[in-house]
Amino acid sequence: MALQGHLLKRSIESKLKFQHLLLSNYSSLSSPTLPPFNYEPKKYNGPLGDEVLQKRNTFLGPSLFHYYQKPLNIVEGKMQYLFDESGKRYLDAFAGIVTVSCGHCHPDIVNAVVEQSKLLQHATTIYLHHAIGDFAEALASKMPGDLKVVYFVNSGTEANELAMLMARLYSGNLGMIALRNAYHGGSSGTIGLTALNTWKYSIPQGEIHHVVNPDPYRGVFGSDASLYAKDLQEHIDYGTSGKVGGFIAETIQGVGGAVELAPGYLKRVYDIVHKAGGVCIADEVQTGFGRTGSHYWGFETQGVLPDIVTMAKVSSTVLQSYYVDLESTFV
Ligand SMILES: Cc1ncc(COP(=O)(O)O)c(C=O)c1O
Repeated sequence: MALQGHLLKRSIESKLKFQHLLLSNYSSLSSPTLPPFNYEPKKYNGPLGDEVLQKRNTFLGPSLFHYYQKPLNIVEGKMQYLFDESGKRYLDAFAGIVTVSCGHCHPDIVNAVVEQSKLLQHATTIYLHHAIGDFAEALASKMPGDLKVVYFVNSGTEANELAMLMARLYSGNLGMIALRNAYHGGSSGTIGLTALNTWKYSIPQGEIHHVVNPDPYRGVFGSDASLYAKDLQEHIDYGTSGKVGGFIAETIQGVGGAVELAPGYLKRVYDIVHKAGGVCIADEVQTGFGRTGSHYWGFETQGVLPDIVTMAKVSSTVLQSYYVDLESTFV
């Protein structure tokens, strides 16, 4: 008891010391300022934040939430900066959930959108237009291996929905394996793959197995990929017929809090899943297009070649959501 009391006292003392240090350092610093930026936002004459929020609350469903006591009313963007209704400038460190990859309102993109809109705004795919093939070819040129066929859909959720459907149809098996702490979408199909209770509803979710998350920092097996892979193997051995439809994972979990996978994990589990007849899907919705810094696609950091890659967000920065799903010779 005496030891416990002593430890508690020491811990309270060091916490107080730390708080004091923080406060004294903070108060001696002047508040940070943004570097100069040669751009004057336009004068804003639209509705102010309170009115915008009230209308949102009245006409939109409660699923549209925000995290703030008083959310910002963002009215203009220019490259890495955003401006609120009063013209105040903010550094956009979030890029709309890693979606705005070329900066806000990049002049080259704006110009391309305007020029195309003046010429032709819509054509269905039963007629010809070169853009869809050109874009698919450009994407395919960035892919390794046999990943050369593109499916355009409307969102990351829809890309994962299609990938899951393809995996099940190709393999003839129903069971899908996903990681705990994963986010793959909110449709009635992908909500089953998602493994964060804040993003799930209690609806039928199909045969989904959520295996232990190979989180190298907080995970139960530390960074030992072999033990996490063993857990996945056991799910197949004890929770399925021995055959699965597929496996899906983000290479860095985004919504789950920027969580990397234990090194070597994907190589091990892709082998296991292939042996069980399944298709391996890499969800690159938050990691593709160079967003990891070191590689163009997140899966390359793990040295694997997926059978299907799903992507979104960055590919949608232009005008509307172009979400893309790539598949190999598999399907
Ligand atoms: C990894 C991942 N997959 C899928 C999705 C779903 O994409 P969307 O919101 O475009 O449907 C998201 C969205 O945040 C995501 O982060």
